[in-house]
Formats: sequence, structure tokens, C-alpha cells
Amino acid sequence: MTEWQKTDWRNRPRVQMPDYHDAAALGTVEAQLSKYPPLVFAGEARKLKTALGEAARGEAFLLQGGDCAESFEQFSANAIRDTFKVMLQMAMVLTYGAKVPVVKVGRMAGQFAKPRSAPTEMIDGQELPSYRGDIINDLAATAEARQPDPQRMLQAYLQAAATLNLLRAFSTGGYADVHQVHSWTLGFTEGEKAAKYRDMANRISDTLDFIKAAGIDSKQAHTLQTVDFYTSHEALLLEYEEALTRLDTTSGKWLAGSGHMVWIGDRTRQPDGAHVEYCRGVLNPIGLKCGPSMTPDDLKVLMAKLNPQNEAGRLTLIARFGAGKVAEHLPRLIKTVREEGAEVLWVCDPMHGNTIKSSSGYKTRPFDAVLREVREFFAVHKAEGTIPGGVHFEMTGQDVTECTGGLRAVSDEDLSDRYHTACDPRLNASQSLELAFLVAEELSSLRAERQAAAAG
Ligand code: PEP
Ligand code: CO
Repeated sequence: MTEWQKTDWRNRPRVQMPDYHDAAALGTVEAQLSKYPPLVFAGEARKLKTALGEAARGEAFLLQGGDCAESFEQFSANAIRDTFKVMLQMAMVLTYGAKVPVVKVGRMAGQFAKPRSAPTEMIDGQELPSYRGDIINDLAATAEARQPDPQRMLQAYLQAAATLNLLRAFSTGGYADVHQVHSWTLGFTEGEKAAKYRDMANRISDTLDFIKAAGIDSKQAHTLQTVDFYTSHEALLLEYEEALTRLDTTSGKWLAGSGHMVWIGDRTRQPDGAHVEYCRGVLNPIGLKCGPSMTPDDLKVLMAKLNPQNEAGRLTLIARFGAGKVAEHLPRLIKTVREEGAEVLWVCDPMHGNTIKSSSGYKTRPFDAVLREVREFFAVHKAEGTIPGGVHFEMTGQDVTECTGGLRAVSDEDLSDRYHTACDPRLNASQSLELAFLVAEELSSLRAERQAAAAG
């Protein structure tokens, strides 16, 4: 068999990718990107893989979250900081509540390209090419803005580099120090869960004081003062991915240099298609979205292609069926994984199966449905004796009104107040925190039940 090449995807059928009309302009951008430094280092991707392997065994838990689509216009230090903050809060709720280390992965620093359900969309009576994410075209409702422009890849790269730079600074520069647990609260997250968080933060502070007083803090100080924070995105725009693919000289393997983890979307997972061909050849941890149409036969082929060595942490299966459908679809995939003896990490994305159009016309997600899908995911794993190893959310630290419901209830009529997403509706900071408490409860009760069963 000939060795994998980063260009092999070009010989496979591709879907959801733009047709660039100016081949020369595209070539110039690709050549330029190929000379730029990769955004991540292979050692980091390997470290994340090890951590995801731990999550697959139930020794850690994956928290993956961020924008549906990052946007050029809404790019700001505050937006990055606030999403990072909420993720730290959620991770703390899980670590403290469920007593499990949390692997933190942002849908950030590269999450720009979007698959769409139709090639065109109707806006105010005008039919326009669909918006495909800022790395491809512009959201503005004109035919010109919707033309794919390769130059946008360079801007996406710069934004990703600047985002990652700030995330690295926050992770190791003192901001994520656990002693700051109180300061991660966002001003507007008031209510029952915010009080519950404050309470927990007080207990954590007390514990830290105790540890210090007992003289046992110094050796482990570094662990408490920094976090590992990783980046991820859907590997959709393969020209961009190919241009950032680099040989890791340590292992002789190829690295997707665009982010630590990349995933394959539910619409681009054709076993013989371009996206699977690209992802199978890179050493990074790979996610695979699994929607209701995923068949056991497809999953079998995909697992064999994407993780032929059956390496722990390499493959994350991201279930996104929709509330009320998990019990119908997840068990057959769990059975397939079991029959194949495959190593996978099971993660729940309760967002993409629960998108509806509200009565006020906005695309939204009822928070109830999101919570319900998470509960169903845990219930199926409980029944099957398998491990629910993580969650995948579309969320933001901004106080948006995009998903309905939650403790500070957002109604259909409220959606227009602060609806800022460039693509799918995101959970706001209060809804995210509420969800984290639910997941922590599910995890602790599952653990308690299994411990009791083991004790006989
Ligand atoms: C997404 O994660 O934004 C997405 C489009 O997901 P899916 O492929 O599961 O529909
Ligand atoms: Co989305």
C-alpha cells in the first residue's frame, strides 16, 4: 500500500466544500499558508490523545465547547476571555461535583467553516448562496458577499493564531489559577445556580487554605496554577487543513497543524469521501459526529479507517441524535463498538439534534430538550454498562438569548434581544453553568451506583 499523502483527499468525492472560481488566487493563498507556522505542536496533540484515552476509561471527562462558528466581526479579547471563563467554571463544577479530572477543549481558534443543509437560502425573498462560515464567505445578504474568497483563509489563520495566543496566556499566566475560582463568575449570571457556584467556590477556597496551612501546597503548586486547554474544530475546509499539515519529525507522522483535535461532521462522514480520507492520515485525536442516519456498517468501516491501530484516545464518537431519540439510536452503535472491540470515547452533543425554528422565526434550541438529551445519553450508558466520557456544547460567555428556557427563562419573544450567533444558537453563560451542574449530578450518581454494584 502506498503511503498516505496530505493531498489524497483531492481524489475523493467531496461534499460541503466551496468551488473557488479563481484557481490562481486559491493557489497563492495555499502556498502562503503552507509557509506559516503550524498553530499547534505534535507533542500537545499526543498529550490530548492520552487524556482522551483516560476519559474513554472513565478516569477523566471531556468538556468540549465554544461557538458554532467563530466570526471575524465578533472577534475580541473579551469574547475569548468570557468563553474561557465559563469553561473554567463548568470544569470546576465537574471536578468538584463529580470528582473527576476534566479535559478542556474549546471549539475555538479555527472553528470557522460550516456545513449547510442546502446550497442556497432565501433572505427577504432573495435566493442567495448559503453562508458557509467566515473562512469561506461573508454573512452579508448579497450575492457578492456570498462568493467564496480564498483570502479569507489567511484572516482565519491570523485570528486563530491570536486566539490561541491569548488562550495559552490565560491557561498558564495566572488567570486559570484555581485560587481565582471566585473571579470566573460573570456579572450577569445571577440566580440559583450562580449561588450554588459561589457556595462551591467558597468550599474550594477553604480547602486551598487548609492545604496551605498544612504546608502541603508547594510541590503541587504548578498543577493548581495552570490548566491544559486545547483547541478543536471541524476539519471541513480541506484546502486550509492540507496547507497546515506538517510532518512531525519526532514520530515521522503527519500532524493537522490547525488545532489539537479535529472532527468530521455528520454530513461529511462518507467512508470513501474526502474528509475521512484526510482525517485518517493525521496523528491528532479525531472526533466523529454520529447522527440518526449512522448505520452500524458505516461505523464499522469508519472505525477501521480512522483508528486502525485501535489506539486509546484517537477516536471520539460524538452522539447527536436529538432528545427522545437517543434510546432508539445509541444502543446499536454501542453494540457495534463492542462487537469490534473498538477503543472509543463516547461524548454527547445535545445541540445539533435539537435545533428548531421558533414561533418568532429564529433558529433556536429549547434548553429543556438539551437537558433531556444529556439525561438520555447517561441513561443508555448506564443500561449498557458503558462509559459516558464527555459532552460537546455550543456555548458562549456572552449574555446572549439564542436558546430558549433555562433558569433565567428566555422566551421565544426574547430571542431577538441578543441573538448574535453567525450560525447555530448557543447556550449563554447561565445555561452552560446549569448544564454543568446537571452533568456533575449524572456523573456522580452513575459512579455511586456502579460502586455500590461492585461492592455487591
Ligand atoms: C457543528 O458541530 O457545528 C455541526 C455542524 O455539527 P453536526 O455535523 O453534528 O451537524
Ligand atoms: Co453548530
